[in-house]
Amino acid sequence: MELIPVAGPWITQKEIDYVADAAANAWYGNANMYHERFEKAFSHYIGTEYAMALPSCTSAIHLSLLSLGIRKNDEIIVPDLTWIATAAPVSYVGATPVFADCDEKTWCISVDAFQECITPKTKAVIPVDLYGNMPEMDAIREIAQDHDIAIIEDAAEAIGSEYHGKRSGCFGDTGVFSFHGSKTMTTGEGGMLVTDRKDLFERCLILRDHGRALGDKMFWNAEVGYKYKMSSMQAALGLAQLERIDELVNRKRQIFGWYQENLQTVDGITLNCEPSGTKNSYWMVTAIFDPKFGLLKEDVMCLLKDKGIDSRPFFYPLSSQPAYSGLDLACEARERNVMAYRVSPYGVNLPCGMTITSESVNYVCDAVKGVAFND
Ligand SMILES: Cc1ncc(COP(=O)(O)O)c(C=O)c1O
Repeated sequence: MELIPVAGPWITQKEIDYVADAAANAWYGNANMYHERFEKAFSHYIGTEYAMALPSCTSAIHLSLLSLGIRKNDEIIVPDLTWIATAAPVSYVGATPVFADCDEKTWCISVDAFQECITPKTKAVIPVDLYGNMPEMDAIREIAQDHDIAIIEDAAEAIGSEYHGKRSGCFGDTGVFSFHGSKTMTTGEGGMLVTDRKDLFERCLILRDHGRALGDKMFWNAEVGYKYKMSSMQAALGLAQLERIDELVNRKRQIFGWYQENLQTVDGITLNCEPSGTKNSYWMVTAIFDPKFGLLKEDVMCLLKDKGIDSRPFFYPLSSQPAYSGLDLACEARERNVMAYRVSPYGVNLPCGMTITSESVNYVCDAVKGVAFND
């Protein structure tokens, strides 16, 4: 039986034409023609001064930390509920991740938890716009400013989301995006770093080009850096998708609307929220099953699979993972982060690939209700 996929892109002839053109023409003196157009259009869309196309969002977080001067013994606050890519680059630079609890409604970092995690060693916070949901950015920015803490906004999952009229990605010293194949807009693999800070942007340009100083001669390296560059074919795909971004985001919202219409009256199933003053781009439609159903997320996923439906587990708290078993601060987080440990075991991402139909969504909703009520 073919499964209804949990995620997937929406590719049209426009994307195919742009990629074919890049493959044919974006070489020699034209090697960067698609990067330039993609980066310019992206910064314009987000509302930041600068944008840099990169091979992944993980590399964008890594460069953000490096350019902010984060190093050994610094502490970086990250939400406990996120993909490990948010936190892993903290270890790449020798700093320590501190896992903060989530907010009950948005599932993003809780403002109080962020504040409680601050110590004299805290140098940055990485709020994550989880599944398209927006955290309380005003309060986070205020606290960060008061404590001289840098912000890297991890908007990997939230292109098109808004908070008080501004687009996700523009709330930090840097903002980062992912264009992995599961995302609302994709380049296959890929990422973007955005910023208003010229100093950070220029530092990232050097770091991502093997440490070659800006404008310096070829094959002459001032320091040891990294090779973080997107290919022309990826940039062409990204540009084509970005030119359709309103259509892509509207489609995600439409898919969520179908789920909401069907499931909102079901007592005990909670979907993503959209607090007033925000716009949710609903990257992943997520359902939290009340513990009263007696079902953990793994049980729900198995039962859905039996009905031909693929799904994903809500992220496991990072502090619970073997990757951080040697970290004392993770032990403390396990005790402290009550909400993360309350939400995560019961959350499932439901199919919301870009080309899913309303009939398939209705089928999934019927299956979800069947699973919950043991029909
Ligand atoms: C919250 C979050 N941060 C970072 C990343 C890393 O993105 P990439 O796979 O492009 O490195 C992802 C990827 O899914 C993510 O969901």
